[in-house]
Amino acid sequence: MKKVCVVFGTRPEAIKMAPVVKELERSPWFEPRVVVTAQHREMLDQVLELFNITPHHDLDIMRFEQTLFDITARVLTGLGAVFASEKPDAVLVHGDTSTTFAGSLAAYYLQIPVGHVEAGLRTGNKYSPFPEEMNRHLTGVLTDVHLAPTAGARANLLAEGVDDARIYVTGNTVIDALLDTAARPFRFMDPELAQTEEPGRRMLLVTTHRRENLGAPLAGVYRALKRILDRHSDTLVVFPVHKNPAVRRVVEQELGGRERVILTEPLPYLEFVNLMKQAALVLTDSGGLQEEAPSLGKPVLVLRDTTERPEAVDAGTVRLVGTDEEAVFQTADELLSSPEAYRRMAEAVNPYGDGQGARRTVQGLAHYMGLAPRGTDFETSKT
Ligand code: UD1
Ligand code: UDP
Repeated sequence: MKKVCVVFGTRPEAIKMAPVVKELERSPWFEPRVVVTAQHREMLDQVLELFNITPHHDLDIMRFEQTLFDITARVLTGLGAVFASEKPDAVLVHGDTSTTFAGSLAAYYLQIPVGHVEAGLRTGNKYSPFPEEMNRHLTGVLTDVHLAPTAGARANLLAEGVDDARIYVTGNTVIDALLDTAARPFRFMDPELAQTEEPGRRMLLVTTHRRENLGAPLAGVYRALKRILDRHSDTLVVFPVHKNPAVRRVVEQELGGRERVILTEPLPYLEFVNLMKQAALVLTDSGGLQEEAPSLGKPVLVLRDTTERPEAVDAGTVRLVGTDEEAVFQTADELLSSPEAYRRMAEAVNPYGDGQGARRTVQGLAHYMGLAPRGTDFETSKT
């Protein structure tokens, strides 16, 4: 059995790595060791609880209003010590957070092979999203085996000169997590959230957190939401507010105490997935939501100027609107006013995965390490 340290630290990494941890546990080749940096604390713990994962190591690095320097330095030092004692045969990191980059660097310093899950996403803009574009790019340079979710991600890696033999196209493991969670029994216990099930209501599900949107861009988005609520009396906003105090300040200022706006703490994934099912529209700057909502047939307005996830934009269910107040208002207003425009966007499409992402990820790693035959890649329309 080969020992693999599976490293993650934030909510989305945990959601997307949970199926990989389970698959490694089931596999005949690997003994997983779960190492969390806890770059997020409460938001990470919610996911660990849902998927019943007990970390072998917890660095517990989160600090109130931490900086990029804090995270990177603490993760690098902490993981260096864990890897030196565990001596794993490989390290798996995920995506594009500072945990991802510092984790791959720590493994490299100890000459441990690195597998990068959700490899190859790019906007081509160094500062958008910031610092995620550089985190994933730098991680890619340090990576030995690239687990790319889509054919488009593989194409990005090939364009940067990565050897095709080191790339496996897996499908995104977020769809594994989503399908598993969406199939679980659920009822809203919170009476406020249960309102979203009332007939005649149209619910707008909103999340925001990107560093480049903090301040004025977010204020513009929230003003657009208020105008939408004024224009459409059947609408209701549900907004689970990210724990980042810089997000909370603007949300409170613009939306606090407002009628038909439900501001909540970050929700457990099970509750959140069920809210997505109820939503008429999703407005978000999140990466993961751009992948999940299309498979539930929910139109997504992306509150960003760039996206590293073009597949659902090409399929027509995701629209890149940015953060300009007028653009957000006009786009949402059109979708809420025109059943035809709405119907065109509400097609369920699944360019990101089929629920087999974790299986292909583990098989790809096993093949790369000489333990198993090469499996079949996940196919997508975008090449
Ligand atoms: C981080 C990632 C981002 C990812 C996002 C997912 C980096 C630089 N950023 O951004 O790529 O898309 O997570 O949500 O890696 N906080 C809490 N409790 C929590 C989580 C956060 O209190 O459970 C507060 C803390 O004050 C913390 C702040 O939020 O200092 C910011 O957290 P941080 O991880 O630095 O940045 P995010 O914006 O969450
Ligand atoms: N999510 C959740 N509870 C919430 C908001 C989001 O479980 O209150 C999930 C969401 O379904 C997605 C992930 O968290 O899987 C997205 O996390 P986030 O937006 O923080 O990060 P990103 O995807 O932008 O990196």
